[in-house]
Amino acid sequence: MLELCVCIGSSCHIKGSYNVIRTFQQLIEEKSLHGKINFNSSFCMKQCQHPGVAVTVDGAAHHVMPESAREFFNTEVLAKV
Ligand code: FES
Repeated sequence: MLELCVCIGSSCHIKGSYNVIRTFQQLIEEKSLHGKINFNSSFCMKQCQHPGVAVTVDGAAHHVMPESAREFFNTEVLAKV
């Protein structure tokens, strides 16, 4: 099971974490990945200094702009499930 986690701390919230979460949820739905991805959210991941929303994929830190969330999912998440 792949662990996918999006930060919902205040800094990431301002950078658009809600939109990243919505995009990921839509893609998990579209591609029927509920049984393959454990999708969670987290409070501040101590990555606020980076541009973009903090996201971890199996514990590895990434920073995702809301407008590139779909592309990120396709390259970094889909490739691993
Ligand atoms: S609020 Fe997301 S890393 Fe700090």
